[in-house]
Amino acid sequence: MAELKGLRDDVYRRPLATALDRLGIGAGWRCVDVGAGGGDVSVALAEVVGRTGRVYSVDSDPAARDEVARAAAAHSQVLAITQAGEDLTLPELVDLAFCRFLLLHVFDPSVVLAKMTDAVRDGGWVVAQEPITSAGRIDGRPMSMPDARHPDIGALLPALARDAGLELVDAWAEAPAGVGPGPVSAYLETLTGVDPGDDPIVLPPLVTVVGRRRGVR
Ligand SMILES: C[S@@+](CC[C@H](N)C(=O)[O-])C[C@H]1O[C@@H](n2cnc3c(N)ncnc32)[C@H](O)[C@@H]1O
Repeated sequence: MAELKGLRDDVYRRPLATALDRLGIGAGWRCVDVGAGGGDVSVALAEVVGRTGRVYSVDSDPAARDEVARAAAAHSQVLAITQAGEDLTLPELVDLAFCRFLLLHVFDPSVVLAKMTDAVRDGGWVVAQEPITSAGRIDGRPMSMPDARHPDIGALLPALARDAGLELVDAWAEAPAGVGPGPVSAYLETLTGVDPGDDPIVLPPLVTVVGRRRGVR
């Protein structure tokens, strides 16, 4: 599992970097990473916000807290919390609420997006990065992730953000692709247990939405 997380971070690093660049996030920002898992994104956020910022790293699985504590040992600005996204409650409003590969697993994605929207200050940001798994391809054939509750949630993300009352500032999709040995093939094999050999792969595109909280609370 630790290997999968490292690979995910590697192959999907570009959409994360693009999103953070789009926001203009910087030192001192307060953030929450919901469904943080092993904390790859939390650590990336901590590096950008620095010691004067804060990153709440939230996951419903208590085991994630230890993983985040290990991954973020050098970043005292990361606070790991065991909490469901549906119950998201933080000690302060944040500048950014972020999730990646979370909404495909939750019972009702709109409930979690609403809680993330409530967690940010007026004018603050909500960013979600979620896949369209059936748009991935192995040797030209569609792949799927039947274990996820909403395997194609990425395709609905712009509408979900609008319906959460967010101003949709930007939205796009990006998919890592490759052929032969390398991180894309290793990620696919770790995820599915299938060795793609020399088949060309397009991993599930990740749809990013960048939303802004409007109005006065
Ligand atoms: C596929 S992992 C993604 C981890 C991380 N966001 C990333 O991109 O590397 C999904 C994570 O969401 C967590 N999760 C699932 N349902 C949740 C919920 N309702 N509230 C909070 N976390 C949840 C799981 O425990 C898991 O750690």
